[in-house]
Amino acid sequence: MPPTTANSERQRIAVIGLGSIGGVVAGLLAAAGRHDIVACVRRPIEQMTVELTEGIVESPISALTDPSRAQPLDWVLLCTKVQDTASSGPWLQRMCGPATRVAALQNGIGHAEGLAPFVGDATVIPTIVYYNGERLAPDRVRYRRGGEHDFAVADGADGQAFAALFEGTPLRTLLSGDFKTLSWRKLLINAVGNPVSALTLQRNAVFLRDDVAALCLALLEEAATVGRADGARLAADEAAQTMARLTAIPPDAGSSMYFDRVAGRPLEIDALTGAVVEAAERHRVPTPLLRMLLTLARAASASPAPKGS
Ligand SMILES: NC(=O)c1ccc[n+]([C@@H]2O[C@H](COP(=O)([O-])OP(=O)(O)OC[C@H]3O[C@@H](n4cnc5c(N)ncnc54)[C@H](OP(=O)(O)O)[C@@H]3O)[C@@H](O)[C@H]2O)c1
Repeated sequence: MPPTTANSERQRIAVIGLGSIGGVVAGLLAAAGRHDIVACVRRPIEQMTVELTEGIVESPISALTDPSRAQPLDWVLLCTKVQDTASSGPWLQRMCGPATRVAALQNGIGHAEGLAPFVGDATVIPTIVYYNGERLAPDRVRYRRGGEHDFAVADGADGQAFAALFEGTPLRTLLSGDFKTLSWRKLLINAVGNPVSALTLQRNAVFLRDDVAALCLALLEEAATVGRADGARLAADEAAQTMARLTAIPPDAGSSMYFDRVAGRPLEIDALTGAVVEAAERHRVPTPLLRMLLTLARAASASPAPKGS
């Protein structure tokens, strides 16, 4: 596929899933007006409002609710939870041709393998999402910058083409020469922090407890050992650094898994903690604490949170 350069021509882009992450992407791309955006949704929607620190961005949204009306496009941005990838299959199958690029705006690792059954010959581009999105209503999301960059992708023609899509928007992409290490770094925080907050039904203040912090550090040590065995170049004190990042998040902020548990929705546990345990099995690394966390979170995922939590 020829590389798309920064000042590329108008692209036809589908955004599957207009939740916390997809709402921000669809709203800001539509407002920039450089490309043709179509939202793939389960309920009709006509506009998206994105709340930024700098102000409010409102844009009309062109949406499809029926996958049978979709056609092959230049880009598909998959913004569902990982457990909803399979239900997005009909969209992906209709919209992917050999020249299509599919970017997975999802947490976890192994995006290409997970998408392979649905995308044919299309090119899959795994991404890391750093910004915080919060869905306030079906047509309204809040964007909070998570650091210097909003996305990371592997450097190369596909990654550069992805970054170019967001020109004219506030979203910035890091082109990384070591995407694997960055992916594991993000996975560590999600695989441990998310289920601990979901299981305890507590926001980030829970990590300020000494006993919880000690448990998390031990879980992070296991996960970092797995990451290193998988080829990530994690620092010797990666677990401690990750713990410091967890405790630096405002105590009243909550993880997406916490919000899903409170709302009685399925948890993204297999894509996060499950992915670490799966990699541990591949590399024969013992992970007794992570296994216990995975089992408890899987059980919690199958049952709604208690009323009033
Ligand atoms: N939120 C964050 O700050 C954040 C940060 C970094 C990474 N991530 C990752 O980004 C990914 C997306 O998370 P999110 O927070 O945006 O999730 P979310 O708020 O739950 O949104 C997911 C959206 O996907 C839609 N969806 C699910 N199945 C669908 C289908 N078959 N067809 C069309 N739409 C479908 C849902 O639609 P309905 O409304 O119809 O249910 C919902 O709008 C996850 O992997 C998450 O871990 C999130």
